[in-house]
Amino acid sequence: MNWQRTYARVARAAAQRLDATVGNAAARLAGVTAGEETTFLGRPIVSMEPRSSITVGQRCTFISGPRYTALGVARPVVLRCLLPNARISIGDDTGASGVTVCSASRVEIGARCMRGVDVVICDTDFHPLWPVRRRWEPIPLPEPADAVTISEDVFIGARSIVLKGVSIGRGAVVGAGSVVTSDVQANTVVAGNPARLLGDVASHAGRRAARR
Ligand SMILES: CC(C)(COP(=O)(O)OP(=O)(O)OC[C@H]1O[C@@H](n2cnc3c(N)ncnc32)[C@H](O)[C@@H]1OP(=O)(O)O)[C@@H](O)C(=O)NCCC(=O)NCCS
Repeated sequence: MNWQRTYARVARAAAQRLDATVGNAAARLAGVTAGEETTFLGRPIVSMEPRSSITVGQRCTFISGPRYTALGVARPVVLRCLLPNARISIGDDTGASGVTVCSASRVEIGARCMRGVDVVICDTDFHPLWPVRRRWEPIPLPEPADAVTISEDVFIGARSIVLKGVSIGRGAVVGAGSVVTSDVQANTVVAGNPARLLGDVASHAGRRAARR
């Protein structure tokens, strides 16, 4: 029935507008500085510490609800500054579904990056490694080398984890389900646990085109 489809479409659009209103308000009230046309679809989890900052560029989309992305998301977007002075900065035109970003010192994500569903990015191990200390001590103080930098136009596949101290070069691709423990060169494709070099983006893209 036509009127049923129209009704369903209108109801979906209204629900989406409501989710965006709630999400945008929740993110900004929690302290996120977000540029124009940046939308939080669904309510993200945000936490900050004194003098920490979370800045997001323009025209970004953060999806916290499973109905807004093809694969669904397992959890809402999580943006956490874990220690005083920690910084998360995310560039213009980026997209993220159910992503978790935790920073004890600095996580930078460049413009136009795409992060697949449920990606985790963090610049700390959260616990000391010594057996007794790891149970009781607070999060270790960060070292400058722990910062995470993801350059522009990087594509990170679904459910990947980017660990402390990693830099990912411009235009690189990280395969689904990867654990990135070391630097990734620009315009390369890496995948696996730990993520290993598969080749360069141009030859992967070329091979795909040739297979068609
Ligand atoms: C990394 C990726 C882009 C490579 O695609 P491709 O260029 O077509 O590469 P192929 O499928 O030909 O695979 C090349 C090799 O890499 C391996 N490989 C590909 N993806 C891998 C992954 N995610 N983890 C481990 N190994 C992987 C393949 O097994 C193959 O190994 P082999 O040469 O030993 O047989 C793709 O596999 C991928 O992971 N895409 C991300 C999808 C995604 O998460 N989208 C976001 C949704 S929200």
